[in-house]
Amino acid sequence: MTTPLTLRFVTSAPDVASLPPTSAEVCVAGRSNVGKSSLLNALARSKRVAKVSSTPGRTRLLNCFEVEGGGTVVDLPGYGYAAASKQERAAWRRRLEHYLTGREELRGALLLVDGEIGPTRLDLEMLTWLRGAGVPFDVVATKHDKVKPSKRERRKRDLAGACGIAPAEVYWVSAEKGVGLDRLRGRVLELLAPR
Ligand code: GTP
Ligand code: MG
Repeated sequence: MTTPLTLRFVTSAPDVASLPPTSAEVCVAGRSNVGKSSLLNALARSKRVAKVSSTPGRTRLLNCFEVEGGGTVVDLPGYGYAAASKQERAAWRRRLEHYLTGREELRGALLLVDGEIGPTRLDLEMLTWLRGAGVPFDVVATKHDKVKPSKRERRKRDLAGACGIAPAEVYWVSAEKGVGLDRLRGRVLELLAPR
């Protein structure tokens, strides 16, 4: 039996103060192009819930989705978009940090790391920052389908090691092929459950 995760787009907010009230929230963070919006669509079993950008770096707002049964999920702007100016990147980073520390209902972040290439320097900085700020997080590796089956175990171990977590703690998903989605849906619902 698969767990449904019904998402409905609510709003794109420029900042924390403009987000709608919620009982509990989970956010999806990661560098631009890692697959945040694709993952939300896959979790929702829809191609249209979140916009998948043909141009990376498009999602600059906090895109908020209501979860059936209670709570919200926020698709965060991707960091590390190479074509952005230094100033723009610094501004995004401030907005991101403001959201992560300022959203009282935030139960946890899903930090997406590209499963094909492993954590980048920016991903590792983000992990260190999350740990320092005391924001609970789960590491979600994306693009499982892009790694050869014979290389997956090793890749998972390396990725987990670089992130400072156990291999079993990594959620490795493919939005394209539907791999690992049920386990992650369960995690999202667990995070959003009333306390
Ligand atoms: P920004 O909104 O720019 O921060 O990017 P994003 O993290 O939301 O990435 P997005 O979901 O837009 O996906 C970026 C690219 O990766 C798209 O071309 C997707 O089709 C591709 N992609 C995402 N998930 C997968 C996956 O599981 N497998 C494969 N093969 N490609 C994927
Ligand atoms: Mg996106």
